[in-house]
Amino acid sequence: MQICRSIAAIRDAVAGFRAEGHGVGLVTTMGALHEGHMSLVAAAKRGHDRVVATIFVNPTQFGDPKDLETYPRTESADLAMLEAAGCDAVLIPRADEIYPQGDETIVETQNLAMRLHGAVRPGHFRGVATVVTKLFNITRPDAAYFGEKDYQQLQVIRRMATDLHMGIDIHGVPTLREADGLAMSSRNVRLTAENRAAALCLSRALDRAERMAAERASPARIEAAIRATIADEPRATLTGLDMVAPESLAPLRQSPDAPLSEPIAIMISAQFGEVLLIDQREIAP
Ligand code: PAF
Repeated sequence: MQICRSIAAIRDAVAGFRAEGHGVGLVTTMGALHEGHMSLVAAAKRGHDRVVATIFVNPTQFGDPKDLETYPRTESADLAMLEAAGCDAVLIPRADEIYPQGDETIVETQNLAMRLHGAVRPGHFRGVATVVTKLFNITRPDAAYFGEKDYQQLQVIRRMATDLHMGIDIHGVPTLREADGLAMSSRNVRLTAENRAAALCLSRALDRAERMAAERASPARIEAAIRATIADEPRATLTGLDMVAPESLAPLRQSPDAPLSEPIAIMISAQFGEVLLIDQREIAP
């Protein structure tokens, strides 16, 4: 695996892959890698001869400087995991190369970025869209792979790639879960044992919603059941619950009290001690 610490180095690596006639899949990360990231690498490997990853803790997508400071940094373990997963090259750039002196260009989806998680984390999706555009321009892949767990992020990136005619296929990869159902996340290592156990209420709530959808319960009843499942867990504080149309994230068209008649994307966020976790599922009648 080629370890590239500059834009020029990764461009050389990708040019080498192209010269040999290979297609390139990209997995962008902020490091602190876990099996969920490896499932993105595996999906990229299934689609392309060569896989490029990036590790960059992007300062512009953090609202709280403390969150940026305490974000886990585990470079040598990350490199070992990427190598074992068969990644061909990794870019670990410096922030001042990604955001050069005088940098003033941003990329922003207008509606998608302002709603839901974006409404409580102003600027977050602007930071994501901007850095992902830069990473796409640097590596010029054929396709890029993102986790469905960050559902709104995935929709923002899809919209941006379509609107800006980037010519890069955006693939969503299903959320990987621990055996007990907890969605894999770089934040899970910061949970105490008690909060780790409590966090299972998220997947429990989503499982319950999925069963209710199969029985065509109304959106209002499904929402009430999710809220009740989280409220039953004293260590959890529900910070966000959105039930919206998949992909567009638009409000549901159907009446909240009628039997479920359209697919719904459910996005939940909840606080467990110091740690904010998110989980997501698409359900359908
Ligand atoms: O999902 C992430 O890890 C980040 O938001 C991303 C896409 C790498 C952009 O910094």
